[in-house]
This record gives sequence, structure tokens and C-alpha cells, in this order.
Amino acid sequence: MKIINSKIDGLIVRPSGPWIKQKYFYFKRYLDILTKGMKNKWAGNLTFVDLFAGPGRCLIEKTNEDIEGSSLISLQYGFRQYIFIEEQKELIKVLEERCRKSPEFSKIVFLQGDCNGIVEETIRKIDSSSLSLIFADPTGLDLHFSTIEQITLQRKVDLLLNIQFGTDIKRNFKLYKKQGDSSKLGLFLGGEVNWSKVNLPIDAIKLYKEVIGRLGFKTVEFKDITIKNTMNTPMYFLLFASKNPRGLDFWKKTTVKDLSGQPELF
Ligand SMILES: C[S@@+](CC[C@H](N)C(=O)[O-])C[C@H]1O[C@@H](n2cnc3c(N)ncnc32)[C@H](O)[C@@H]1O
Repeated sequence: MKIINSKIDGLIVRPSGPWIKQKYFYFKRYLDILTKGMKNKWAGNLTFVDLFAGPGRCLIEKTNEDIEGSSLISLQYGFRQYIFIEEQKELIKVLEERCRKSPEFSKIVFLQGDCNGIVEETIRKIDSSSLSLIFADPTGLDLHFSTIEQITLQRKVDLLLNIQFGTDIKRNFKLYKKQGDSSKLGLFLGGEVNWSKVNLPIDAIKLYKEVIGRLGFKTVEFKDITIKNTMNTPMYFLLFASKNPRGLDFWKKTTVKDLSGQPELF
């Protein structure tokens, strides 16, 4: 990652493009609807897990806007527990430093490592009686299906996943097919992939929804939110999955408006 320091707090920021505003729009809207909607049923018993946390702030280089990233944003929604995971030592330290100023600091668990490699440790930290929102916002196709499988086993979990379709699956599709089950796509799909059914990049998404569906999650009937770059090219999309009709309802409400405030067309 290019090293840029924030003008706001002097610590490292993650450089990004203006499209992240769309992502954060839906992310905030969803957190708002979730935490308000669960006030009675899950009052105070929601856990937020950020699998690819980053350093806590992003810089939109084009406009020089220095904005909060997903972990810092989540601290405004009063979760009972926060688990932030980041692979890079330097970045998790920066994130911890930033979070120190928050009144929520004592509720945060910081874990450094590959979220796929430290999944057992992560599970041990999650309060088993809570409803967890697992947020995965990788830069590439870095989330293994086995991680989802383990983290969702016998616990109440909703998933909000950034799926790198344009920026990774489409771009590297031929290579991944050649590499097979051990490729990033193979691990994303859970291995033992019937590759004869994956002829186009979009087939991988259909299969992903199928394998997630086998865990009891519903995804297909919902709107996936596509995030486009400044050339209007789709980069990635947000996929929401829940086993609970209420959870699904929250996502539907989240996606009825876009960043411009216009109703989204289904
Ligand atoms: C797109 S950035 C995260 C952005 C963050 N959600 C935000 O809003 O600022 C992805 C982050 O995941 C980290 N990362 C990449 N692979 C990882 C892995 N396997 N486990 C945990 N973190 C990882 C990267 O170092 C990077 O900081």
C-alpha cells in the first residue's frame, strides 16, 4: 500500500477512489437500519466483525477527502462487541491507535493475521449468544468459503460481503480456471468445484450463491449493489446474506435508495 499520512490525525490512510463513497453509503444505511431495527429483540447484543479492517481511514486521492473506514464507522452504532482483523501489523496498530479515542474502545478486540488463518481464534472471541454482522471488504478475492462456513456454524450471523467481481474474478478468470481448486476462486467457492459448470465469470457468482445457500442463507432474491468506478465500469458488488427474514428485510430497506437519494430500480 502506498504510504500516505492523514492530514486529520497524521496516521497512515488507505488511498482509494471516489467510488468508496457508494460503498460506505450502503454500509452506514444498513448499520443504521440494523441497529435501530434490533433495538428491542437483540438490544445490546450485536457483534460487529470486520474481517479486512484496514487502518481506519481512507483518502480519496482525487478529491483529497480523508474519510473514516468501515471499522471507525461501525463504532458509531453502539454494538456490544467489535472484532477488527487486519493482516498487516502496521495497519492494525494504526487502527488501534485511532480507536483509542473512541468511548467504545474497551469493547474492541484487535486481531492481527490472515482472517482465513485465524478463524478459530476469531470464533472464540465472538460472544456466542450474540447476533453477529460479518463484514468482509477485501481488495481482491481473499475470503475463503471455509472461513464463512466455520464462522457461521451454529451461531446467528448475517453477512455483508464485498465481492470483487470486475476487479478480480473477471480479470483473472482464465488463470483461476487453469489453477483449479487451489486458486483464489477455488478457495472462494469452497474447493471441489465442478469447473465444467463455471464457463463464464458470472457462473462463479451463481455457484457462490448456491454454496452459501447450502449453509441456510438466503441471498438470491435480494438486490446486489454494484459499485462502479468513475468510468462507470462495475468493480465489485455488495452481497448480503441472512438466514432470518428480518435480516433480509433490513437489506431490502437499505437498498431502496442510492447515494443520490433516488429510488433504486429493481
Ligand atoms: C479494502 S481494505 C479494507 C478497507 C476497510 N474495510 C475500510 O473501509 O477502510 C482491505 C484490507 O484487508 C487487509 N487484508 C488483506 N488480506 C487480508 C486477510 N487475508 N486477512 C485480513 N486482512 C487482510 C489489507 O491489508 C487491507 O488493509
